[in-house]
Amino acid sequence: MDRKIYILLGAPGAGKGTLAAAISQEVGLAHIASGDLFREALSKGTRLGLEAKKYMDKGELVPDEITIKMILERIARPDCDTGLLLDGFPRTLEQAKALDEALSKNGESVTKSLYINVSDEEVVRRLGGRWICRGCQTPYHEINMPPKVKGVCDACGGELYQRDDDTVATVRSRLDVYTKQTKPLIDYYDKIGKLGKINGEGQAEEVAERLLAVVK
Ligand code: AP5
Ligand code: MG
Ligand code: ZN
Repeated sequence: MDRKIYILLGAPGAGKGTLAAAISQEVGLAHIASGDLFREALSKGTRLGLEAKKYMDKGELVPDEITIKMILERIARPDCDTGLLLDGFPRTLEQAKALDEALSKNGESVTKSLYINVSDEEVVRRLGGRWICRGCQTPYHEINMPPKVKGVCDACGGELYQRDDDTVATVRSRLDVYTKQTKPLIDYYDKIGKLGKINGEGQAEEVAERLLAVVK
């Protein structure tokens, strides 16, 4: 297969989900978000969802074995044939290597990993006011990016809710986990010549334009 495979790499709250929602249709790439897949599994009450919840509630990573299996199965489905925008995966070196290995078996490789850079203070501000659509997972922000009608998704009319892991204490541990386990991936992709960097601060539309300039 000759598909483009982009990774959105960045801290919790960097804007990965917002950016993917803004550009995935325009660029014709399937938006595959590991966190969304876990939350969807949980809302259906599956064993995968219940297992993932144990880690998500503490702001820790779900074990690699479970996560890798879930993503590799997902990206093999036909709706991914047009290319991928991976959001939240990989986030450990193990996951990055497993992805490379699985892709290489198909004669494929990651096109580019795009590091969305946002300061810690901005991340904390963003996650504090976040609301998510239960239907289509689009993120909103009560101050920065409010929906047209309070509590209702502009895109699909779904109900908006706040994530259980957006509390101050859990955000702190997610940032910690990000620094220790995910940040090393910046170096990993840089060393193989596949790192792109995007300034994630500023208006969401501006950031999306910066991303489009790379992905289009
Ligand atoms: P996941 O769902 O991936 O959460 P995350 O990485 O912590 O990232 P977020 O979704 O919080 O941030 P985002 O970058 O998508 O920001 P958003 O666009 O929403 O993971 C959750 C959990 O699942 C993990 O803790 C872990 O337990 C588990 N998990 C997931 N993947 C895993 C993996 N690979 N391995 C192991 N475990 C895994 O934006 C945030 C807010 O900011 C929104 O309110 C938005 O409206 C606002 N905003 C966005 N852009 C802007 C802007 N430019 N200006 C102002 N506000 C903005
Ligand atoms: Mg997200
Ligand atoms: Zn929606």
